[in-house]
Amino acid sequence: MLNWDDPLAEGKPQPPQTPPPEPKVEHKGDATSGDEFAYEIPAEPTPAEPIAMRAPSDIPEQTNAAQMSGGVNPVKAEDKKVVNGMADINQLAPFKYPWAWEYFLNANKNHWTPLDINMAQDVHDFHHKLTLEERHVYTNVLSYLTTSDIMAMRNIGLAVMEKMSAPELQIYQARQVYEESLHTWTYQHCIETLGLDQGEVYNRYRVVPEINAKIQIANRRLNSVMRPDIDLNDRDELHNFLMSYIFFAGIFEGCWFYNGFSPIFALQRRGLMKGTAEQLQYIMRDEVMHASFGLRVARQIMREENIQPDPKAMREMWDECEAAEEGYARYLLRDPILGYSAEDHVNQFRFIANRRANKLSLEEPFPGAENALPWLDEQANMRKEKNFFETRVTEYQVGGGLTW
Ligand SMILES: [Fe+2]
Ligand SMILES: [Fe+2]
Repeated sequence: MLNWDDPLAEGKPQPPQTPPPEPKVEHKGDATSGDEFAYEIPAEPTPAEPIAMRAPSDIPEQTNAAQMSGGVNPVKAEDKKVVNGMADINQLAPFKYPWAWEYFLNANKNHWTPLDINMAQDVHDFHHKLTLEERHVYTNVLSYLTTSDIMAMRNIGLAVMEKMSAPELQIYQARQVYEESLHTWTYQHCIETLGLDQGEVYNRYRVVPEINAKIQIANRRLNSVMRPDIDLNDRDELHNFLMSYIFFAGIFEGCWFYNGFSPIFALQRRGLMKGTAEQLQYIMRDEVMHASFGLRVARQIMREENIQPDPKAMREMWDECEAAEEGYARYLLRDPILGYSAEDHVNQFRFIANRRANKLSLEEPFPGAENALPWLDEQANMRKEKNFFETRVTEYQVGGGLTW
């Protein structure tokens, strides 16, 4: 059973093999605080044990029995690693990371397409009810999201997946690639249905400096690991990959996406653009899982490889991303709309950023930041009884296994 306060804490399907014992865990997050993915994070190993790299020559020779039969040694769960593993990448089980398989199973309970959503009222709202300022917000949010989800798809599919050395991690990421493309379809569906100028909307990230600034940061940080020749046994390369994945899961997905839908949810709360908002709620569910998974993988890398993100580099990343988000918010909400302001947006970014840092046991980047949009977590949790938006969320889940 999926619980959005703790996505994978309950109803865990049992993997066919018992995984090796995990380190002692501690509960991070508070289900009552609205922390949307308060999964359990393994406690810091004490002390963290460096894991020696295994060169191919270190791999034990085949047993006599295996040699005599012409086969090779079986894969053991403990041979797997997130990166730099030497176990056969083509063998799913035994699992070392059963939680990754659970993410995959849970993701597959959630199927929808944009064509399921009725946009008729949105067409009327956009052309007859939204103010100029609200249309500015709506179209620029879409402009930012269209580009960002393409980048997300390419990053997971082309840069991250290939560096994973355990198939149970790659399988969830393969599902993630599909979901990112589904998200892009959603934005295109909205743009087409509303009759917006596609050339104009899709090019805005290039011509609007405040949108471009965020995209440039993402391009730089994600492109730095989109190379097939990276040797993650090199500590500098490993650190760069870790930083890039933390940026991707913790900020790009965990803050910028998570917080990026909220201006349109503010319209939804006033009964406007409900079809669009319903689709964004579905996307937000996916993104919560993506961010949660990515941070867990990053945490696992930190433990297995005995590496920590450099505090100075983290500080620079937080500051750079905060400044870009602030510029974006000031452009998006140069004229506030009812119930939402640039200050709300930036404060919420800081508040969520602290949450993401907590998931990695890193120092909070913005101490004291307060939850400026307490209703936003409601969107992420999207419980069955939540019907004040009068949307079709109860029909989102297909298949069994989900209780609201
Ligand atoms: Fe996405
Ligand atoms: Fe995503």
